[in-house]
Amino acid sequence: MVRLSNNLLGLLNIITLLLSIPIIGGGIWLSRQANTDCERFLDRPVIALGVFILAISIAGIVGSCCRVTWLLWLYLLVMFVLIIVLFCFTIFAFVVTNKGAGQAISGRGYKEYRLGDYSTWLQRRVNSNWGNIRSCLAQSKICQSLLDSASTPLDQFYKEHLSALQSGCCKPADDCGFQYVSPTNWTQTASSTDPDCSSWSNDPNLLCYGCNSCKAGLLDNIKSDWKKVAVVNIIFLVFLIIVYSVGCCAFRNNREDNAWKRRYP
Ligand SMILES: *[C@@H]1O[C@H](CO)[C@@H](O)[C@H](O)[C@H]1NC(C)=O
Repeated sequence: MVRLSNNLLGLLNIITLLLSIPIIGGGIWLSRQANTDCERFLDRPVIALGVFILAISIAGIVGSCCRVTWLLWLYLLVMFVLIIVLFCFTIFAFVVTNKGAGQAISGRGYKEYRLGDYSTWLQRRVNSNWGNIRSCLAQSKICQSLLDSASTPLDQFYKEHLSALQSGCCKPADDCGFQYVSPTNWTQTASSTDPDCSSWSNDPNLLCYGCNSCKAGLLDNIKSDWKKVAVVNIIFLVFLIIVYSVGCCAFRNNREDNAWKRRYP
């Protein structure tokens, strides 16, 4: 008896199987590329996700096409857990990325970023890993274009569009009131109570990498990345729920067919 849902489930799992191959490939590529601390904490979860999708797809294909009921049962259980976990993570991602935005300053082309504006959970994450992230940022040359443009006049610098990381990590805050020499060279004048102002250094290896504004600039990036991930998650969730529903039909069919075989061998 040819069952539509079994064939459909097999087909959907072949799609996810094919999807897992570029994910694993991408993870391996990332781990080969990773010579800075930045990328190092990205490759393992990506490879794990790819292998997980590969394993679950094979279970789905074998379970539906070869009518292995226990495998299909395991497949549905894992899918169910995956849907719940993904659903919770998506809600969490939206809650965590709800707070915080750059502050526009009048007459400036760039925004400034304050750590306190972002969710406390993200602040704690970034604070506890700051050692690694900091050395990674220092290696990644985000401030190189500003270091190179030493002859930029002040009024032109004020009009520049800086990324969140550049604004947070490569220059002192506007409130510090330092005297401008070049984008990365400032004469420290007035003493401000903001700890970021005393963290500032003209040394190209230090700059504002120790500032809270640098952490805030990173959080602003993470925030917009997570927003994108959350949107992709919603699409993925809808796809998973469809696959899960088809899987339930295939599971019922397997059981009915087995019952039929047992009654009329
Ligand atoms: C910053 O500018 C001052 C004055 O022009 C100069 O003496 C100093 O070497 C510069 N510092 C750096 C790190 O470029």
